[in-house]
Amino acid sequence: MKKKVVMLGSFVVDLTTRQKGLPVPGQTLLGDSFQMGPGGKGSNQAVAAHRAGADVTLITKLGRDVFANVATDFYQKEGIDCSHILYDEERETGIALIEVDTQSAQNMIVVVPAACMHITDEDIEACRPLIEQADILLLQFEINFSALFKAIDIAHAAGVTIVLNPAPAKEIPDEVLAKVDIVTPNETEAQQLTGVKVETVEDAKRAAATFLHKGVKNVVITLGAMGAFASDGKTSVLEPRLRVNAVDTTGAGDAFNGGFVMALAEGKDLFTALRCGNVTGALSVTRPGTAPSMPSRAEILSFYQECYGEPFAES
Ligand code: RIB
Repeated sequence: MKKKVVMLGSFVVDLTTRQKGLPVPGQTLLGDSFQMGPGGKGSNQAVAAHRAGADVTLITKLGRDVFANVATDFYQKEGIDCSHILYDEERETGIALIEVDTQSAQNMIVVVPAACMHITDEDIEACRPLIEQADILLLQFEINFSALFKAIDIAHAAGVTIVLNPAPAKEIPDEVLAKVDIVTPNETEAQQLTGVKVETVEDAKRAAATFLHKGVKNVVITLGAMGAFASDGKTSVLEPRLRVNAVDTTGAGDAFNGGFVMALAEGKDLFTALRCGNVTGALSVTRPGTAPSMPSRAEILSFYQECYGEPFAES
């Protein structure tokens, strides 16, 4: 049976330009195109997990403005339940300014989570039954820490599996990390949280050991060109990066987390989920955009089989 995933995190509207190169301070570049669409790490991860086939309930906070319609219109089209969306009567819906280099597929992002930085204790209290009844709680760092830590406390006390994607990088107290079941940083975030500079797979092993020492039960580190690494404290695995034609790497980490969580929700072990995240992330970079670039379940299963030579067994 599929486990229930609750995602508490950000929705923001992505305002994305595409051009050759990325500007340096003081430089103006002429862009090739502009696109406005749904984004935010939390929402992107929920969309990725939903398209991958997971049963996801999304909690985020929007303003009372036109950007909020970008979220609700998109969720309605996707068939994602909007009934747990929170609204802030004063603050705006968040935005992200994204610049994508059409030559390298790399990006630069400034995100302003706005309403998502003002989730109150009362908001989280109202979501308590939902969080307590979840099997997996998926979290990131684009909401205020008071709300994040309260949700972690509730989930931990209820025995819910907590998956924390600590992005964008910020420090958090060790006592909070100790309640996390699976942490999924990239190499920069891993360095920020452990103090270990992650440039090689051996470094990733050292960073993972530091997380495990802090009480995190499982560690997954996405390593860009090197692939993705996981450790459960006994076994460590590196899945090499999958070769695809990358056009836009924005949201690749979100796709990874969505695919990873879908596999966990279907009862797969950490290392099968790692492969599923790897496949989902790779597919997402082959098309532009963030939430709209998330692959379907059929695409994930087919590419999984192609890459790993065995089916992703359906649950
Ligand atoms: O991870 C990519 C996301 O980060 C973008 O969608 C943008 O909104 C920022 O939050």
